[in-house]
Amino acid sequence: MTQLPTEATHLPSSSDCNGIGIRVFGNADAANRCVAEEIANQMIYAANEGRNCVLGLATGSTPIGVYRELVRMHRDEALTFDNVITFNLDEYLPMQPHEPQSYVRFMNEKLFDHIDIRRENIHIPDGAIDPSAIEAFCRGYENRISDAGGIDLQLLGIGRTGHVGFNEPGSTRDSLTRRVRLNAKTRADAADDFRGIEHVPIHAITMGVQTILSARKIRLLAFGDHKAPIIRRTIHGAITGDVPATFLQGHGDTQFLLDEMAASRLDFVSSDETHHS
Ligand code: PGA
Repeated sequence: MTQLPTEATHLPSSSDCNGIGIRVFGNADAANRCVAEEIANQMIYAANEGRNCVLGLATGSTPIGVYRELVRMHRDEALTFDNVITFNLDEYLPMQPHEPQSYVRFMNEKLFDHIDIRRENIHIPDGAIDPSAIEAFCRGYENRISDAGGIDLQLLGIGRTGHVGFNEPGSTRDSLTRRVRLNAKTRADAADDFRGIEHVPIHAITMGVQTILSARKIRLLAFGDHKAPIIRRTIHGAITGDVPATFLQGHGDTQFLLDEMAASRLDFVSSDETHHS
């Protein structure tokens, strides 16, 4: 494969990729900088118009570099999060916020503790909620997103099952925020974090596929060889609830930002002529 320059991206026509914009970067850092810059621009643009910027945020190892870059921009370039409202995709159930695997803790450590966001503007599904209150909580989460004006930009990773958020195979396009059962592969992937699969929660709360598709822009990051098969299936495969990420094909403003390894099984990447754009 021809070596791509670090900042260069390859942009095949979106019709080749079922409407999904594809950008392939020489490494993950370049992709992270690109997304962080777009998020910052979105925040600044909204601030200049006197509006809030509503961000949908993801956890997992993939978005950590984006958060690091946003923290750097806050520290070195005075980027303010004063007008930012965030909604995280998901949380394990049950999960106390102080536990090491909690996404509340993850977001605080990776982003929120290092920026000037207002605490009341942060929303993360409540993994500590009483089971009897889950349905009402999920309805309320949807309402809070609507009340904030909808999500301007949703950041996503992708699981090997094709999940976005914790929308596992079998999720429907019209699904909303709800309690879900985690897929065995997803639980296996989380086993190290929990020191054994037997400690990985069986359930989670996740925004739904429709909740995600309601975002005005969607930016999905995927890095590494292990993501190559699911990236191929998501971009070139038929739309199906068996691979919930394929629902992104119908969205209209979705871009995948990939490193060369995650892109390595895409049809256009194996051809030499695709690399000099
Ligand atoms: P990862 O998880 O970023 O840790 O690979 C992605 C996901 O499951 O959505």
